[in-house]
Amino acid sequence: MSSPTAFSRIAILDFGGQYTQLIARRIRELGVYSEILPCTEHVDRVLSGGYTGIVLSGGPSSVYEDDAPLPDKRLLESGIPLLGICYGMQAMGYLMGGHVVPAERREYGKAHLRLLSREGLLHGVEPEADGSVTVWMSHGDTVLKPPPGFASLATTDNCPVAAMADPARRLFAVQFHPEVAHTPQGKTVLKNFLDAAGATADWSMPSFVDSAVEGIRRQVGKDPVLCALSGGVDSSVVAALIHRAVGDQLTCLFVDNGLLRKGEADGVVRTFRDAFKMNLIHVDARKRFIARLDGVTDPEVKRKTIGAEFIAVFEDEARKLGHIPWLAQGTLYPDVIESVSFRGPSATIKTHHNVGGLPPNMRFKLVEPLRELFKDEVRELGALLGLPGEIIWRQPFPGPGLAIRVLGEVTEERLALLREADAIVQDEVRQAGLERALWQAFAVLLPVRTVGVMGDFRTYAQVIALRAVTSQDAMTADWARLPYDLLGRISSRVINEVKGINRVVYDISSKPPSTIEWE
Ligand code: XMP
Repeated sequence: MSSPTAFSRIAILDFGGQYTQLIARRIRELGVYSEILPCTEHVDRVLSGGYTGIVLSGGPSSVYEDDAPLPDKRLLESGIPLLGICYGMQAMGYLMGGHVVPAERREYGKAHLRLLSREGLLHGVEPEADGSVTVWMSHGDTVLKPPPGFASLATTDNCPVAAMADPARRLFAVQFHPEVAHTPQGKTVLKNFLDAAGATADWSMPSFVDSAVEGIRRQVGKDPVLCALSGGVDSSVVAALIHRAVGDQLTCLFVDNGLLRKGEADGVVRTFRDAFKMNLIHVDARKRFIARLDGVTDPEVKRKTIGAEFIAVFEDEARKLGHIPWLAQGTLYPDVIESVSFRGPSATIKTHHNVGGLPPNMRFKLVEPLRELFKDEVRELGALLGLPGEIIWRQPFPGPGLAIRVLGEVTEERLALLREADAIVQDEVRQAGLERALWQAFAVLLPVRTVGVMGDFRTYAQVIALRAVTSQDAMTADWARLPYDLLGRISSRVINEVKGINRVVYDISSKPPSTIEWE
């Protein structure tokens, strides 16, 4: 695996805080590489990890709980600059001999910080009109008195010590959350910590590319590498990156299951074979998939059928290629840290499902060069590697593809209808400039027919449902308030241009209780 050891690196010890990922993101936005470790990571490994600084994250515990996950005191005495945030501050205060008390009630929400210092950690933090600084609090325990050697830097009504520092030992702590947007000047505080730690802002995408390319070369040597390309962002960026590193040692396998959107299969071939000149095996498996789906109407059976067929096709094709030891995967950082439990690294890294499930009995070693990146960083990387916007900004698309948007039985005819209607939706949403603002926008073909009238004729034809949602992570979603004229254009184009559709309806359900997909 590529490891960016050449960079300044900040470790974030995760004590289970809900904002831990945000801390990592903010630090990276400041140009410094950061990574999250479970708080149970062995202290020797943290100390020998070459970190420029360490952040102790927030967390739900109280330092007075019997099994509170306290950091090892050797960390605090190691000389490595430390920043405690919220629970991290309480833990630091408690272990270093300060006076920490359990709160009678949790403080949650905005608080007004009064600065006692404008130096060091709070350098450049500007008081607002009322003389205070808005910060976001979410804590139980409170530090009443800082440990020996520490100075209190700020207070709030509920927190006598809302920030503290021992600059000589480079130990810093804040009770509030500098990483959230509700602390408008939080980034200044984080930047001050990075400066105090001597971190250099050397984390940038071009430098990541250099180190990742070097890491991939080191990892795979002269061996061939296989990459299952789906046309999605992650697998596309992985392919482009690995190709940059090892060129023709990479073979990409693109399985066209016939369930993609209009023009997508051609787009993949154009980009990777024609523009990037990669070894791309384009497997036309459309007939195989449609045959398997014959008579299948249950959504879960559809998913399983498609997943199993993908594995069967993949195995057939990989066998033809002879022995390939390495498989490239687009595992991202959120996939990795999702499994980092703050109670310990007990959870295993979840199996990845980007490529629709991998052959369980095929023994590959994995190359996962995106393991350290967040999604927006992957997009930035893709752009740097020269991938076209249509791939970089592609909305999430389910592995089972259009099969779960043709409700009921999947036939070639019904897929063709949906594909045409969906292309109009994509086109109009793009033209309206809403592609990036929407999490997903797509057409669904309903399993009913309705009566209509076209010219002098009565029609009895199919219905398209339009689904457009906004979301952060697909866990929850809201139906998008699309402008009426956009809805109107989509409706009339679909009905006029797609023969066999005589009605378009708009889905105004949010998730929960509805899901994004209809099946
Ligand atoms: P739901 O419909 O559960 O979808 O609200 C949440 C997100 O997941 C996508 N989705 C899938 N992706 N295989 C996938 O790879 C699937 O079977 C699948 N089902 C839903 C969906 O498009 C949305 O982004």
